[in-house]
Amino acid sequence: MIVVAATQNAHKVKELTEITGAFGLNVISRAEAGIPDFDIEEDGATFEENSLKKARAVMEYCGAAAIADDSGLAVDALGGAPGVMSARFAGSHRECSDAENNKKLLTLMDDIPDEDRTGRFVSVVTLIFPDGRVFAARGECEGRIGREGRGVGGFGYDPLFTPDGFDKTFAELSQTEKNEISHRAKALSALKELLSDFVSG
Ligand code: IMP
Repeated sequence: MIVVAATQNAHKVKELTEITGAFGLNVISRAEAGIPDFDIEEDGATFEENSLKKARAVMEYCGAAAIADDSGLAVDALGGAPGVMSARFAGSHRECSDAENNKKLLTLMDDIPDEDRTGRFVSVVTLIFPDGRVFAARGECEGRIGREGRGVGGFGYDPLFTPDGFDKTFAELSQTEKNEISHRAKALSALKELLSDFVSG
């Protein structure tokens, strides 16, 4: 089944396509679906609200099933920030470069001791159909925030994040390794369960 990805982030589309391919969804980008670039304001207070808003906007635009991921990094010592502001952390409204966001995070966390540098990546994936059915699932990946960036893979905060049980950052792990443990992989696996319950129920 063809599903249009709401996200414009090529890294995320790639991860969504790779992970969902295994359970029969053919996720294509907005560009591949011929949808012109339009902004969807991410003004929700939660990952759930933003994820639904993005999926619904694309589904309404193209009349086909759409999938959206809203995700970010929640750092315990910062009360859950950057959270839903992850993409815009270093500037309040505009999307910032990964380098700007990572620099701000490291600066804010300068005084935080190693034992308190805990946090998690969160992803809420929403799949919406033109008939109005909505399936949403959340995934989290626990880890620690480093003191400097390491690795060149991935995107966003990957060079600063070492998942629990590993001594490499997300940017040092291969894409395949990241896709096995990431917040998006967990959300998509929970989504798969929801869909199979729905089909079998
Ligand atoms: P969104 O497009 O509003 O969901 O923005 C998510 C932001 O969270 C991205 O721009 C990244 O800064 C960050 N983020 C989400 N998932 C990841 C990931 O897997 N690795 C690194 N950063 C991520």
